[in-house]
Amino acid sequence: MSSAPDDMEYNKICEKHKHLIETLPKGNGWRVQHLYNYNGFWLPPMIIKNNLLIHTYFKSQPTDIYLASFMKSGNTWLKALMFSTLNRHRYTFSNHFLHKHNPHSAFPFLEFLSYPVTGFTVPRLFATHSARTLLPDCMSSGRFVYVCRDPKDVLVSKWLFMSRLRAKDLPPLSLEDAFELFCRGVSEYGPYWEHVMSYWRANLEYPDKILFVKYEEVKKHPEVVVRKLAAFMGKPITEEEEEKGVVREIVKLCSFENLSNLDVNKNGVEKFGDMVEVENHTYFRKGEIGDWKNYLSEEMKERVDRITYEKLRGSGLILTTMV
Ligand code: A3P
Repeated sequence: MSSAPDDMEYNKICEKHKHLIETLPKGNGWRVQHLYNYNGFWLPPMIIKNNLLIHTYFKSQPTDIYLASFMKSGNTWLKALMFSTLNRHRYTFSNHFLHKHNPHSAFPFLEFLSYPVTGFTVPRLFATHSARTLLPDCMSSGRFVYVCRDPKDVLVSKWLFMSRLRAKDLPPLSLEDAFELFCRGVSEYGPYWEHVMSYWRANLEYPDKILFVKYEEVKKHPEVVVRKLAAFMGKPITEEEEEKGVVREIVKLCSFENLSNLDVNKNGVEKFGDMVEVENHTYFRKGEIGDWKNYLSEEMKERVDRITYEKLRGSGLILTTMV
């Protein structure tokens, strides 16, 4: 949030933020030292401030499309798929924006936006890691794609990712400690289950406005998902495009193999606001279903599956892990 407006409103937000941080429950962070429980979710201090800024400055438009996800659920992949599907008339597949840019450059996270928001073509695309209940109600006029993933793969992926980014002056976070924190809900933007349920409830309330996508489903049937995304974003794939193999091209462009081997994703760095710099290659680790088996014991697996079952029971939402 590099260029937040320097006005009275902004100063009031800074004051409010300072007061909040002094009063909120504190827990262990995975990347930074502490997370704070803000309206039911564990967030780093800067994200709480940015949440206050979103509520004050972000003006939603009915044409907006948001990609929402819990960290490490497939955000990078879906960013690439949504961007290339929506912009399939703007680029050729031999000379594409994503050949030179990491998917995170394609559209920004709401949490790291600079205000005022300018320079977007309509429909505007935004990403968010925040639970639905932390975001302004007015965003319901837009559309959400929510990508979710087996929490065991999320946990392992997140622990490995955050360990790389973890502040150098902090002791390493062991997998056992990360596991315990995850199960208690204490991880950036968590609890995982409440995060998923916040969007699932919104989905039940506004079924036409939210598209639920599972990482595992994208792995198994990427072309089906691209067609769903295209229709949901208001640009259904035409018969002519089907004949030309456009869906196949999009899937190929955004595949793990293709993206992870591009120079920009091997050597580039992505900056998020003023705070975080991430080497692009860290977004592409294995991209597999079930890698948790190489890290979690049977007992750990059962504990996560049990929590998932209890938290989602009766909701109508079935994660791959539950079947
Ligand atoms: P792993 O760590 O299990 O490999 P996010 O994008 O939400 O940060 O999630 C990152 C996870 O998605 C990582 O999982 C990463 O490897 C995987 N991923 C990134 N791009 C992918 C792609 N094009 N296809 C499949 N998986 C991808």
